[in-house]
Order: sequence, then structure tokens, then C-alpha cells
Amino acid sequence: MTSFTAQAGTATAHDADWWRQAAVYQIYPRSFADGNGDGIGDLQGIISRVPYLARLGVDAVWLSPFYPSALADGGYDVDDYRDVDPRIGTLDDFDEMVAALHAAGIRLIVDIVPNHSSNRHAWFQEALASPAGSPARDRYIFRDGRGPSGDEPPADWESNFGGPAWTRTPDGQWYLHLFAAEQPDFNWDNEEVREDFRTTLRFWSDRGVDGFRIDVAHGLAKELGDELPSRAEMERITAPGQHPLWDRDEVHEIYQDWRRVFDEYDPPRIAVAEAWVEATRRPRYASADGLGQAFNFDLLEAPFAAEPFRRIVADNLALAAQAGSSTTWVLSNHDVVRHATRYGFPVDASATTSRPRTRDWLLSGAPEAELDRDLGLRRARAATLFELALPGSAYLYQGEELGLHEVGDIPDDARQDPTFFHSRGVDVGRDGCRVPLPWTREGSSFGFGSNGAHLPQPSWFAESSVEAEDDVATSTLTLYRQALALRRELQADEGLVWDEQLSQGDVLAFRRPNGWTCVTNFGSSPAALPSGEVLLASSAVDGELPGATTVWVR
Ligand code: GLC
Ligand code: CA
Repeated sequence: MTSFTAQAGTATAHDADWWRQAAVYQIYPRSFADGNGDGIGDLQGIISRVPYLARLGVDAVWLSPFYPSALADGGYDVDDYRDVDPRIGTLDDFDEMVAALHAAGIRLIVDIVPNHSSNRHAWFQEALASPAGSPARDRYIFRDGRGPSGDEPPADWESNFGGPAWTRTPDGQWYLHLFAAEQPDFNWDNEEVREDFRTTLRFWSDRGVDGFRIDVAHGLAKELGDELPSRAEMERITAPGQHPLWDRDEVHEIYQDWRRVFDEYDPPRIAVAEAWVEATRRPRYASADGLGQAFNFDLLEAPFAAEPFRRIVADNLALAAQAGSSTTWVLSNHDVVRHATRYGFPVDASATTSRPRTRDWLLSGAPEAELDRDLGLRRARAATLFELALPGSAYLYQGEELGLHEVGDIPDDARQDPTFFHSRGVDVGRDGCRVPLPWTREGSSFGFGSNGAHLPQPSWFAESSVEAEDDVATSTLTLYRQALALRRELQADEGLVWDEQLSQGDVLAFRRPNGWTCVTNFGSSPAALPSGEVLLASSAVDGELPGATTVWVR
């Protein structure tokens, strides 16, 4: 196993609680850095950027899928769970990357995709070649069709990417895929499936991986009797844990089993659930005898306003405490419009999500009129400083430290995301946040690689490149570096106390141990600057706290 060299000021190698308040940086590997000039990001590219990650000051990297894949869903269609996509590297490169990250004091979390494999996975190919009712088919979810000749799907369910959730095989049976047709769902009642994932978790843990991000963690357990309910019938099921496909109580037996695997290691491997479930159901996924932590996407969905931010923080701290876990904060990831862009639209504080509006904007070919890019970035910087002052882990998405906006104008014929194709363009998809990162002002693909990038990059990337922002006092990159360094220094226990005196109107303020206070003005007119030493500000403060600004004071 690769050794882990702890650096001064960071948690030690054997600290079992390292994840509780970690800053975790998500790498979407095909779009981070291209080491061999084929236009696709790779592990050698990541290795070459370890010094960048170390200087940024993150505690861990979460690596999105790097497994062999036909990329029907950006790598979330896995051909082989215990190998590296040859276009991304080799297992030797992987070991080298783990060693380089660990030597820099950075831990590694990898994505595990257990709800479905790809249709090219050896097991699915074997299932297709085997007769109905065979053990090979039992690893997935096959059913006969309805109607006299079985040519109607077993049920009228829709996939999450649009279109039917059942696809017919050449011999007439149908298989279930809650996502793309290239992503057949596993049958988690099958013991071989369970054993294979234990093997996978040990395989990566043995290679030094520190933890796992569990994709679609609420989907694995399904209750499918002989009579399948219709979509309308399923929609009427609202009682928690009763839906046949999502968030069933039995899913936690799987995670309790995984916990025993995680605990075979020192320190125990960690896991974070991607579970889109009702808030009150989250603690189950985050419990210490289960995965240990669960994403909350509440901030990511919230409008930039004091009241919802306060409610979300209070609720999630309580929910995490219920599970004995720490909570997770996310403003951007590979599935959503970047937060600098989301915040560039007028705020509707009563809205429960900022999504539809941004989607409409993207769909209409991204007209600039409605979008205030500068204001969006200003709010994004304020939201990030707010996030980084909170107790719990912060999950950052590659490129947000450069203040990148969503790329809105990707031509249809360059798009890759299945949501775009399956919805026939009704949903523009997620490519706009997956455009390869700009490292330099000029050059092929702005320094992403030596020979182009797999998604087109806009010309404005030049001024948002690492080179353009490096050591510039007012840049977003500098703000992230300073904030992450200070956070490391100031962060003590997980307490948070609202400062009721300062929290008035559009201003929200909370105190952390060590006399560290975070004050955000969500409004547009200036507020009073709190007393104390200003340690860091998301935009220039001059005697007052301007609108859309966060300061850390002590
Ligand atoms: C998760 C991933 C997303 C993927 C889906 C299916 O939501 O974050 O990118 O498309 O699962 O695996
Ligand atoms: Ca490459």
C-alpha cells in the first residue's frame, strides 16, 4: 500500500476523522489536464498538476469515473470496475497518481457506480448471450414484455435521461435501465453482484484509495414483484421507503455490508452517498454503520439569499448531527450549471431552485442580455467564502476556483451528454460545465493539452486561465488559495453560532470557534462592516460591507 505523508498543519495519515471538515476537489478526469496530447484528460495530466492542487490547498481529490467506458454517460457507464480506461492511463499510472497525491498530503476518493454497469460490461454481454431465466441474466433486471407477442415494455417507466426505461434485446426479453440504455441496472438481490462490489472496494482500497463517492446510492435496492406498477401508480407512492425503485430501506443492508469492508482498513475507508432523497431520509445514508456521509445539494439548488441559506445550514447541521456525521456543501459539480452562471440571473428568493431559469437560458442559445456575468461571479465568490467557513466538508468542482462560467454556446454536433440526445435537445445537458480547463492564456486548448480539447473552449477562457489568475491579488484563484489556507488554520471543532445582532435583513453572520466570524451581505446595497480584523473578503471592502460580499473577520 502506498504510504501517506502528512504535511504540517494537515491531518495525520491515520486520522480516522480526516473527512469531517475536508475540502474535497472534484476532478472530472477527461476534462482536467491532458498529458499525452490526444485531447482527453488523463492520469498523467493529473500527476503533472499535483503541485497546483497542493498549492490550492485542498485536503482530498474526488475523481469521477476513470474506468474503461464507451462514454455513453461521461464514464458513468463502466465496462470494468477494476481497470483504467486506456485513453486515460493504466493501473501503473493510477498507482503513481496515488503516490504523488499522498506525498503532497492530498487524499483520494474515487467514484463507484453500483446501480448500473455499461452494456459492454462482460456480465451484460454474457447475459445477452444467455437464455431467459439463466443465472447470467439474473445479475441484471430482465423481464418478458407485455402484450400477446411481448413487444410492449414490461412497464411504462421513463429513464432519468428521458425515453423508456426498458429496452428490448434481440431474443425478445427486456432489461431495465433507469438511466441510458447503455447503462443496464444491476440486480442487487443477486449475491454475485454483491460479492463483486466487495472485491472492487477492496481492489481500490488496497491500492491506497482513501474513500469512495457512491453514485446513485438511493437506487440499488428495488422491489420488483411479478406485477410491475405503472408510472402513474408509482407517482402516487409518497410514503418514505415505499417506492419500488428509489430509497428503499433495504439499500442500507448493502451499505452496512460495505462498512465492514471499509473498516478492514486503517484508517477506515470513507464514503459519501449521492442520494437524491428527502432531507429527512439523508441521515440513514450518512450513518456511521453505513456510508458515513451523504451529499446535501440544498445550497446548490438555493437562490442567493440570506433566508434560504440560513435555513439550509441550520437544517443540514441538525440532520448531520442526527447521523453522527458531518454535512457536505456543494455549489457546483459535473451535473449542474456552474454557480457563477446560476447566480448571474435575477434572484427570486422565494424560488426553491435556480435551475429552470438557467436551463431556459442555455436552451435559447445563451443570450447574454439576461445574464449579468460580473454579478454572477461576485455572488459566486461570496457564496464560496460562506461555504468554506461552514463546518462540514466542502466539495469543490474543478474550475470553480477560476471563477469559470458555464459554457453556453456548444454547437449541437459537439455535444456529448446523453441528456441532450435522449431529450432530443429539450434538455441541453451537462457539457457546459465539463469543458476542459484553461491552464494558459494561449496555446492549443489553453494549455489543457498539446493538441486540442474534446469539447470546444470559448475565447473568454484565456482570461480565466490559471496563468492569467496566478498570483493576481484580486483573482478568484487567489481568493480560493487564501480561503483554503485560512480555513485550515482556523478550523477547529464543528460548532457554529449565528450572530443574531449582525444577521439582519440581507446580512447573515455566524461565528466559528477561534473567534472566526463569517458575514455575508446577500443584498445589493451596502451594510455595516462588522468590527474586528478583516481576514479575507470576497470583493473589495472599504469601510462598509458592499452587496454580494462575504468577509471573514476576527
Ligand atoms: C449521477 C452522476 C451523473 C450520472 C448519473 C448516472 O447522478 O453524478 O453524472 O449521469 O449518476 O450514473
Ligand atoms: Ca490524454
